[in-house]
Amino acid sequence: MSRGLQFTAVVFLSLLPSVLSFSPNGLHQDDTDPSLTKYTLSSPDNKIKASWMPFGAALLEFFVEDKNGVKRDLVMGFDNRTLYTVVRGQLGSVLGRYAGRIRNGTFSVPPTLNTTNSTRTTPDDRPVTVYNVPLNDASGRAALHGGPIGYDFRAWNLSAVSNHSITFFLSDPDGFMGFPGAVQTNVTYSLLSGGKYSIDLHSEVLPYANGTRPETPIMLSTHNYWNLEGWGDYNASDPAATGSVAGTNGSHILQLDADRIVQSDGIEVATGQLIDVNGTPYDFRKPTRIGEHVDEAVNGCGTGCTGYDNCWLFENQGSELTHKGSLYSPKSGIRMDIATNQQANQLYACEGIGAAGLPRKASQGGGAAHPDATYGDQSCVALEQESWADGINQPEWPVNQIYGGKENRKYYWQSVYSFSVVSS
Ligand SMILES: *[C@@H]1O[C@H](CO)[C@@H](O)[C@H](O)[C@H]1NC(C)=O
Ligand SMILES: *[C@@H]1O[C@H](CO)[C@@H](O)[C@H](O)[C@H]1NC(C)=O
Ligand SMILES: *[C@@H]1O[C@H](CO)[C@@H](O)[C@H](O)[C@H]1NC(C)=O
Ligand SMILES: *[C@@H]1O[C@H](CO)[C@@H](O)[C@H](O)[C@H]1NC(C)=O
Ligand SMILES: *[C@@H]1O[C@H](CO)[C@@H](O)[C@H](O)[C@H]1NC(C)=O
Ligand SMILES: *[C@@H]1O[C@H](CO)[C@@H](O)[C@H](O)[C@H]1NC(C)=O
Ligand SMILES: *[C@@H]1O[C@H](CO)[C@@H](O)[C@H](O)[C@H]1NC(C)=O
Ligand SMILES: *[C@@H]1O[C@H](CO)[C@@H](O)[C@H](O)[C@H]1NC(C)=O
Ligand SMILES: *[C@@H]1O[C@H](CO)[C@@H](O)[C@H](O)[C@H]1NC(C)=O
Ligand SMILES: *[C@@H]1O[C@H](CO)[C@@H](O)[C@H](O)[C@H]1NC(C)=O
Repeated sequence: MSRGLQFTAVVFLSLLPSVLSFSPNGLHQDDTDPSLTKYTLSSPDNKIKASWMPFGAALLEFFVEDKNGVKRDLVMGFDNRTLYTVVRGQLGSVLGRYAGRIRNGTFSVPPTLNTTNSTRTTPDDRPVTVYNVPLNDASGRAALHGGPIGYDFRAWNLSAVSNHSITFFLSDPDGFMGFPGAVQTNVTYSLLSGGKYSIDLHSEVLPYANGTRPETPIMLSTHNYWNLEGWGDYNASDPAATGSVAGTNGSHILQLDADRIVQSDGIEVATGQLIDVNGTPYDFRKPTRIGEHVDEAVNGCGTGCTGYDNCWLFENQGSELTHKGSLYSPKSGIRMDIATNQQANQLYACEGIGAAGLPRKASQGGGAAHPDATYGDQSCVALEQESWADGINQPEWPVNQIYGGKENRKYYWQSVYSFSVVSS
């Protein structure tokens, strides 16, 4: 649990007073700020109603009907949108420029196994440049989600909005958070008929004034905390009633077409080794209750933390949009199928989140009626489609996370979530 507490302490409660005045891509604490404007859309068949805001390009609410026809809000969030700018929890946001943990915040372009030696060359003698992202995790031993001011903690710009779709835009300056080159990203969220929610992320590295285009790692993701019951079993007068869906007795059933995970060390940084899931608590190839083996994942989310916060590698390593997993709650009957063009998926089963004391939305048992109701441990499941965790420091892995350059390699991330109701 200590890892979980550290996670919450560092990630959720960092107030970063020294950067509060940063602009134009920094923090905003003013409720009248346009980056905190809420945009609400419905799907053409009205099966989904959802809302977003420019800050973090964050999904705020996501309503679908359960098996009893009751509308449930399936994602964690804050009703007070100013809270998103002071509590960094990645609630519903886009992650970047590099999702997940980078060892010591250090990487090189091109990637090398050992960045300590900055004069080192690659086997084919290309020069190597070492970069350092400011450290914001594990007591200064890793950079998490793009460093202290990741994409989730910046004001994106509204770029386009139509009846069923919305696009936000982020301009990430050259050198900001230690990353080389300026990168532009558009995220488009679309609500489609038949219970489909589609997310597209396009990034491009901009050329320097002299026309040359730098190379930089890009690994984006999205960070929704799902609870397919909408925290329906909350009990505001009992803080211990956490609405756990991913704990020992939790209801949520997960399936992932993934045969390996990335091994991580005591501070949750990739070691470079891969683990075959066969015979481990990480085997979700068949639909399995998350809680069934969660207590066997000892130190799975860092030293002293039991539970899941790991990177699963899909069997299908292609980059076409294909079905790769599902999440299902027999209690609500809501099932979410995941199709993605990504090769990996970080699953965080919300270990240690309770200690952050995050206030629940009114739609999920909080609000004026129950101001003390908070989000409990294991009461959600973050499913982050992405590339291989810290692949930027593992040149032998079969992934290329470097974009831009002479060939102007562009980045494209796509996931489609399909919601259905299983009545049983
Ligand atoms: C919203 O959160 C901000 C930041 O914590 C706080 O200053 C403000 O008082 C809150 N507003 C309400 C209505 O609670
Ligand atoms: C760790 O990062 C610091 C800068 O944050 C850098 O000076 C140091 O060389 C890095 N160490 C290694 C082993 O990469
Ligand atoms: C990395 O390189 C430095 C300098 O060459 C060396 O001292 C260090 O032992 C190397 N580390 C690893 C993990 O290979
Ligand atoms: C760093 O790498 C260069 C080139 O590979 C090599 O010549 C040099 O000896 C290395 N330095 C150390 C300290 O290992
Ligand atoms: C983008 O958003 C920021 C923060 O809300 C704002 O300061 C800036 O003027 C916007 N830029 C454009 C081009 O709209
Ligand atoms: C968008 O919605 C409005 C109001 O329902 C409707 O009048 C309009 O035709 C819609 N536009 C499109 C392109 O469907
Ligand atoms: C983002 O959208 C803008 C406006 O449509 C477009 O000019 C730009 O090329 C897009 N960038 C990327 C990386 O998709
Ligand atoms: C182009 O500009 C960049 C950034 O100033 C610089 O690092 C690079 O060396 C320049 N390239 C050439 C070919 O002049
Ligand atoms: C909620 O918790 C309180 C305090 O533990 C308990 O008395 C009450 O029975 C619980 N309500 C439900 C519906 O479980
Ligand atoms: C899970 O359910 C079992 C059997 O009902 C019960 O003994 C145990 O206390 C429960 N565990 C938790 C963590 O609620």
